[in-house]
Amino acid sequence: MNDRLAMYNANALKLGLFGANCSSGRAATKVPERWSASWPDCLALARMADQAGIDFMLPIGRWKGYGGDTDMHGESLETLTWATGLLAATERITVFGTVHAPLFHPLIAAKQCVTADQVGRGRFGLNIVAGWNEGEFEMFGVQQREHEARYEYAQDWIDAIKLAWGPQDDFVFDGAHIKLAKVRAKPKPYGGTRPLIMNAGSTPTGQAFAMRNCDAFFTATQESRKGGVEATKTMIAGIKEQARALGRDIEVFTVGQVVCRPTQQEAEDYYRHAIIDNADWGSVDGMLAIKAITPQTVGAEEYKKKREYFASRAIGGYPFVGTPDRIAQEFADLSRGGMRGIAFSMVNYLDELPLFRDEVLPRLERMGVRKKG
Ligand SMILES: Cc1cc2nc3c(=O)[nH]c(=O)nc-3n(C[C@H](O)[C@H](O)[C@H](O)COP(=O)(O)O)c2cc1C
Repeated sequence: MNDRLAMYNANALKLGLFGANCSSGRAATKVPERWSASWPDCLALARMADQAGIDFMLPIGRWKGYGGDTDMHGESLETLTWATGLLAATERITVFGTVHAPLFHPLIAAKQCVTADQVGRGRFGLNIVAGWNEGEFEMFGVQQREHEARYEYAQDWIDAIKLAWGPQDDFVFDGAHIKLAKVRAKPKPYGGTRPLIMNAGSTPTGQAFAMRNCDAFFTATQESRKGGVEATKTMIAGIKEQARALGRDIEVFTVGQVVCRPTQQEAEDYYRHAIIDNADWGSVDGMLAIKAITPQTVGAEEYKKKREYFASRAIGGYPFVGTPDRIAQEFADLSRGGMRGIAFSMVNYLDELPLFRDEVLPRLERMGVRKKG
């Protein structure tokens, strides 16, 4: 299990690409070079990332676009099949699948994960999503449970999956929500261990679920950044302590958007051009409406602020905008604060990863937070 957690390498700071299976990735932008999420682009990206030593790829489980001119996420490749294809084409990189617990029968999901894990020889990881997007559930004809019950169901679901991955067979599972009889699930995950499990709940209930069940907890929180390394340390210590109280060790990861350019001015100009000046406000409005944030519910003034905050920070996560020096410094600070990894997106991953690979990765090696090759 330790090898899986380490993603089979000695990098203290794990780096991953987030959102590449969805059109527009993590940027609600109209710029023509925005991410296509086509299979050829995903495959080329995974091979480039694998060769560069990027540690993981984390897809988004999304079923319906957000509308607007670009219909952000209108095209998305299903994550378990996407991961399986990418694992077959790569050697070192860990690839996650992102599964909505209420939409996938646990025994089917357990076997899909095992298949991906066998293909990748132990490089598959599972991101569990309890669900928040009502429109997606409606489309499946599935009633979204109220928030607490969502996580109660997810608890049954992950317990059933872990049992199916374990050594026993012909078992009965008698959960509050899920009942299974005489279960057989073979083969088991690769190498006698189980896939990495992550979750990114943001409410106390979601976080408690992650503490109880997961190896990695992804936080999108941006507050601790303002206080630098010390604030990051405090935040991470708090999370780890909560997990330890439950007898568990958990690693903390975060997310963000990288715009790296040779000069600070170029990076800031491109960020403003892609994320603000060419924002697809229709997509942003679509996403806010799902969260019941509209001018009618919060008032025009507050709505304007929310809209700008979402376009610039909430959708992509914290913006890492700048020169290779600046981005390497920000990443190293997070690592020194105890952050185990960062899942980041780019407006066009394939165009932008080479500069990151050639200029940011060597700096992180020199700073001691990543190993060569
Ligand atoms: C890194 C990260 C990845 C996530 N991936 C997805 C996803 O693919 N699909 C999805 O519907 N929600 C996703 N979420 C949303 C979370 O799973 C969670 O539902 C959300 O943070 C709300 O928290 P809560 O469930 O505690 O209310 C993600 C969140 C983060 C920070």
